[in-house]
Formats: sequence, structure tokens, C-alpha cells
Amino acid sequence: MEILNTAATLQAYTEKARRNGQRVGLVPTMGALHEGHLQLVRAAAQECEVVIVSIFVNPTQFNNPDDFRLYPRLPEADAALLAPAGCTALFLPSVEEMYPQPTVLRFDFGALERVMEGEHRPGHFNGVATVVSKLFHLSRPHRAYFGQKDLQQVAIVRQLIADLSFDLNLIAFPTVREADGLAMSSRNRRLPAEARAVAPQLYRALQLAEQLVQARQQSPLEVQAAVEDYLRAEAAITLEYFTVVNAHTLQPLTQWPPDQPVALCLAAHLGGVRLIDNIVVQ
Ligand code: PAJ
Repeated sequence: MEILNTAATLQAYTEKARRNGQRVGLVPTMGALHEGHLQLVRAAAQECEVVIVSIFVNPTQFNNPDDFRLYPRLPEADAALLAPAGCTALFLPSVEEMYPQPTVLRFDFGALERVMEGEHRPGHFNGVATVVSKLFHLSRPHRAYFGQKDLQQVAIVRQLIADLSFDLNLIAFPTVREADGLAMSSRNRRLPAEARAVAPQLYRALQLAEQLVQARQQSPLEVQAAVEDYLRAEAAITLEYFTVVNAHTLQPLTQWPPDQPVALCLAAHLGGVRLIDNIVVQ
């Protein structure tokens, strides 16, 4: 596995692969890798001869300076996990390499970013779209792999690809969970033991909501109230939002749409850490 630290070496590496007729897969990450990331890498390795994994804790997508400062950074341990998973090159740039000058361009994804993470983390998706666009331009992948754990991020990147005519396929991969249901996340490393013990309640709340959605006995707002009540009973968890949305448009629902998937999405704080999760009900 090669380690590439500059934009120029990444461009040269992927250009050569393309010239050789190799398919290039890209898995963008912020590191502190877990099984969720590694499954994306393995999926890429099955479909592409060349697999680029980027590890870059992107400052422009953090709206909370403490979250950026405390974000786990483990490049050596990450590198050791990547080669066995099928990564052929690790792109590990510095902030100066990715942002030689402050960006001026601003993205606006309209209604798509006025809900959930976009609403609660102002500027977050501008930062995501900026760094993902840079990674797409530098590596020109045939396929790019993203996790449905970040459902709104997938929708934003899909829109980005369409609006800017990026010539690549977006692969959205299902959420990988711990045995107790907690969605894997780099931020789970920061959970104190007491918070880790109650964290699976987030997934249980989503499962409760899923059952209520399938039964169609209650309105979306009643489902929301039921989840809020369920999690209010857990003193260690502060729910930031739980919302029932159309899984394609991500707009909140007031009634059940016929033949449209529904997404149940939440963000919560526990033990000083902010976690998100979702379930899509077909
Ligand atoms: P990061 O949180 O490191 O996640 C990298 C990729 O792994 C994302 O596509 C994310 O959705 C996916 N992922 C994370 N946890 C997962 C899980 N439990 N199951 C399946 N996939 C999972 O998302 C980012 O980084 C950044 O915003 C990035 C796209 C790299 C831009 O900076």
C-alpha cells in the first residue's frame, strides 16, 4: 500500500491507473477507522483494481471547535488496518495541502440542507461538499463509497454529483452496527463507559419507531412524540432531534406517503459526544 501526502502524487497515481485501464474506487474518511469504514474499503476492493482511502479530518465541516480538536486521530493504526482490507493507496494530506488558501465558494443545497444535520450544524455540508469535490477532482474515481449511516450526507453528495456532472457512481453502503445495535462511529471511542452502556438505546428507539411506522396506526408526529418519550426516560441521553422524513427528499412528513420509503433519523448527546443514527423503512 502506498502512502500519498500531496494532491500532486494522488493525481499522478490515479491518472496512471486510469491510463492502465484500472477502475479507481475512492473511500473518503476522517480516520479512526472501524468496521463500518473497512466494509466500504472491502466493497471497493471487490469492484475496483485501485482503491484510494483518504483520511483527512476536514476542518471546514466542523461547526464545533471542540469536536474538531477532540476528533480521534490514529493514522498509524488506521494504515495497518487498510492494507489487509484491500486499500492500494492511502491519501493522508495536511490541512495546508487540502486548503492552500481559504475557500470562497459556498454550496447551498436548498431544502436538502435545511433539515437535520444541515439545520443543526450550520456550514457542515458546505465543508463536506468542498472537501468531497476536491477529492473527486484529485482522484477522478469511477466509484465512490459512502455509508448510509450519514443518510443526509449521501443525499447531499448525490446532488453534488448531479449538479456538477461528476462522472462517477456513488455506492451507498448499509450501516454497520456493534452487536448491541449501536451504529459504529469514530466518535464512539470518546464515549465514557456509562454513556457507552446506554448508547444502544438510540437504536432501540429507532426500532420502536420502525414498528410504529410499519403499523401505520399513528401519525408521523405521534411516532416522533413516542420516541421523544422513550428517550426522555434515559437521563444520560439528551435528544437533539428525532424526525420522520421522506427518505428521498429528507423533508419531514405529516402523513404517510403511499409507496415511498420513510427515514427515521436522530441526533443525540451522551457523555459529551454527539451521535447520529437512522433507519430507512421501505
Ligand atoms: P467518516 O465519519 O470518517 O465516515 C467515512 C465514511 O464511512 C462515510 O461515508 C460514512 O457514512 C461511512 N461510515 C461511518 N460509519 C459507518 C457505519 N457504521 N456503517 C457504514 N458506513 C459508515 O463521513 C465522513 O467521514 C466525512 O464527512 C467525509 C465524507 C470523509 C468528508 O470529510
